[in-house]
This record gives sequence, structure tokens and C-alpha cells, in this order.
Amino acid sequence: MAVCEVAEHESARIGSDPLRDAFPRRAPLVPWDGRRPVPEAEFETAWATLVASPPPARRKRVAYVHLPFCANHCLFCGFYRGPAHPERIDGYDALVIADLERECRAAGIAGAPVHAVYLGGGTPSALPADALHRLLRALRSALPLAPDCEITVEGRCLGFSAEKVDACIEAGANRFSIGVQSFDTDVRRRQGRRASREELLVFLGALRDRDRAAVVADLLIGLPDQTLAVWRDDLRACLDLDLDGVDLYPLNLFPGTPLAAAVAAGRSAPVVPLPDQATMYGDAARILDEAGWRQISNSHWARATRERNLYNLLLKQGADCLAYGAGAGGSLDDHAYSLVPALDDYAALVRAGRKPLRTIHAPSACEALRARVGADIEVGRLDLSGLEPEASKRVAPLLAQWRREGLVEGAGPRFRLTTAGRFWAPNLARGLRESLQSQETR
Ligand SMILES: C[S@@+](CC[C@H](N)C(=O)[O-])C[C@H]1O[C@@H](n2cnc3c(N)ncnc32)[C@H](O)[C@@H]1O
Ligand code: SF4
Repeated sequence: MAVCEVAEHESARIGSDPLRDAFPRRAPLVPWDGRRPVPEAEFETAWATLVASPPPARRKRVAYVHLPFCANHCLFCGFYRGPAHPERIDGYDALVIADLERECRAAGIAGAPVHAVYLGGGTPSALPADALHRLLRALRSALPLAPDCEITVEGRCLGFSAEKVDACIEAGANRFSIGVQSFDTDVRRRQGRRASREELLVFLGALRDRDRAAVVADLLIGLPDQTLAVWRDDLRACLDLDLDGVDLYPLNLFPGTPLAAAVAAGRSAPVVPLPDQATMYGDAARILDEAGWRQISNSHWARATRERNLYNLLLKQGADCLAYGAGAGGSLDDHAYSLVPALDDYAALVRAGRKPLRTIHAPSACEALRARVGADIEVGRLDLSGLEPEASKRVAPLLAQWRREGLVEGAGPRFRLTTAGRFWAPNLARGLRESLQSQETR
């Protein structure tokens, strides 16, 4: 295993309750340092080389399509990119398909199977049924999808008609990831979520009863007024619905969101404090475990074998990600890239037959290490047996401290993250990264 550049690691607070207080805040998920931006003047040549090069053997691959449209801006959300107005949506699928089809026969695109496709946003379910159908069919015919490819459509209850659901299934979708956030009607409506608890239950029940695709719900942990009782009721609703899986995300109060402004102005109850969010996470882990659900990553639980969470897991393992749509981000042969977010610029570039690139970053020396640590931590373990002796020495005090403070278990070099370790996984990933990166400059 290689070791790379510098920084300070984060130690856990000593003598704290590890679940509630190990760190003062959750570390932001920032990419590993050391990637080199490719100058814009070199984009065309760099991209041409990437798409012409056959993929490395056994490199996993996924595809992502970004649909930057929402019926409204939910107060808490940092992913909102613009309204779902017909003048923004009409013709968008044709642009994405044109970008997809233009390069789909190149060796770098056609040369390896795609194991998971994700339509995310924004709100893919804001698209009309025929656009969803065309997009999914085009993805299936242009990309070499593996026979067991997971094909996810993200959406929300509002406006996700039976006709749209049928169109997705008919075009090959086999997984729906539905943003619920909370079932509590008051908690939801204060965040701009219009559907009531009853409407949500009917919608999710009908999706489940079709029995044609995995149904997974996103819940947020820590919305204003989401008490422990509301939280337990949210989990109970998922259990009673027999969903295939749930994703539990601690709420981040992103600066610039309507919620951050409303809390600052006293127009909203505060967000649940982080130690209480941690308690809610621990509570959920216990309740889901008692109900026989499996934790398949730090924020995902599965009830049924149908739920694999493949897209997210493969991404964390360092899979290539073919990205399409305005504002999408992906990676090819360890080069990270993003596409222009403004719809007009995106459309102009696609119509001119050009890849609508915004950035390309060449890989750092740490890609293999990043993928390995990221993949391990995501599934709640750490295998440090491949580290060079110098690197092992460097991380040993950190691991010893985390073990004493109840974040990891095991004697090493293989460790398991405790529930507390899994809540604070971003901090552990960052601590390890900084500790390991500090090697190379020594
Ligand atoms: C990109 S969003 C799309 C969700 C979908 N459009 C919907 O309305 O439910 C995916 C998920 O990110 C999560 N998310 C959004 N804002 C968040 C925040 N401030 N902190 C943590 N997770 C957040 C939500 O759980 C959401 O379901
Ligand atoms: S939660 Fe979904 S619908 Fe609401 S603003 Fe975010 S992406 Fe859009």
C-alpha cells in the first residue's frame, strides 16, 4: 500500500461517551488531497485519451445521471439546483441521451460492464413518464449493463404517479430510492414536504405491492421537532411497511440553505443537536438489528436480499463512474470529472458535439489507498494488514486511542467499527487519511 501527503489526524475526545461525544462535529466528506486539476485548454485531449483507453481489468463501473429539477426547495436541502418547470425539463432527456450516445462506442466506455445505474438529483421523479422511459431505455441500450445491474430511480412521493412508476419499471428500473425524511406530517410540512403521512404510507405501500423493484426510503436524523418519539415512529413505519431497505442520514445544517436562514432568524425550531442525533442513530441501529435487518453500510440497512445498495458501495470502493447530465460528477480511470451545471451552457456544449466538462482532476498517488480505506470504513471494518511498516507505526497510536475510546474493536491489524465508530465514520476516515498522508513528506 502506498502512503502519501501530510496533515494532522483527529483524535477522539478522551473519556467521553463515544457515541454522543467522540468528536465535536462530523467531518465533512472532502476528497483526498493531491489530485491535480487539468487546465481547461487540455480538457478535450485529456477526455479523448480517457474515453479511448480500454478500462483496467476488473475495475468496477457504475453510471450516474443527474436530474437537477425539484417541485420546490425543501428547507434542509443542499442539493436543490432549480425548479421543475416544463421549460427547464422539456428536451433535457434528449440532451443527456445525445451526450451518452455520442461516446458510447469508445473503448473506455464500452469496454467494461456497468454494475449499477443511478438516476439522482434533484428529483428524477419530477420528469414526465415518457422522458423517464426514454432515458432508461437509452442507458440500457448505450451502456454495457451487467445482467444483474442495479438500476435505481430516486424520487419523492409528490408527483410520482403510477404512470411514471410503470414507465420506470417497464424501462428496466429495479430499485426506487424514495426520499421520505420523516413520516410525521407536521415535521415534514415545516420543511416544505407537501405529502402527509397517510399519503406517503399509501404511496410506499403501493410501490411495495407491485413487487417489481426494491423499495428503499431515506430518513433524516435530527430535523427540527423530530423528537425521539417521532424518530421511533419513523422507523416503526419503515418496519411496518416491510420496505426492502432504509438509508439513515444525520441532518447537516448546510450554510446557505433556507433552513439555516430560518434557524438563524428564529423562524424555525433548532436542528436536533449532534449528540442527540447520535443517540437516534444508535437507537435505530438497535431497533433494526432486533427486527432482523442487516446493516450493509454506515447509513444503509436492508431487510430483504433484494436490497444491495450496490451503487453506493461500489462508488466507495473506487469504481469508475460514468456521469451524465448537468452538474453530474464522475470518474474514469481514477480521473475525477464534473459536468457544467448551468442548463444553457450544458445544452450549448452538447449541441456542439462536445463533452460538457467543467473540471477534470488527474489522480493523486493515493487512489488505491483512498479506495481501500473508504471501502473498508463504509462497511464498518478496517483491514490495515497491507500497510507498509512505517505507515503501520504511524497509525498505531490513533487506532489504540480509538479502541480505548470505544470507536473500534479488535487487536489489529483488522478492526471492526462499533456503532459509535460507524456514526463517526467520516471522522475516522479523515483521521486515517491525514495520518497516512503525512508519511510521504517525511
Ligand atoms: C439528493 S437528495 C434527493 C432526494 C429527493 N429529491 C427527495 O426529495 O426526497 C437525496 C437525499 O439526501 C438527503 N439530504 C438532503 N439534505 C440533507 C442534509 N441537509 N443533510 C443530510 N442529508 C440530506 C435526503 O435524505 C435525501 O433524500
Ligand atoms: S430534498 Fe429532494 S426535492 Fe427537496 S430540494 Fe432536495 S433534492 Fe429537491
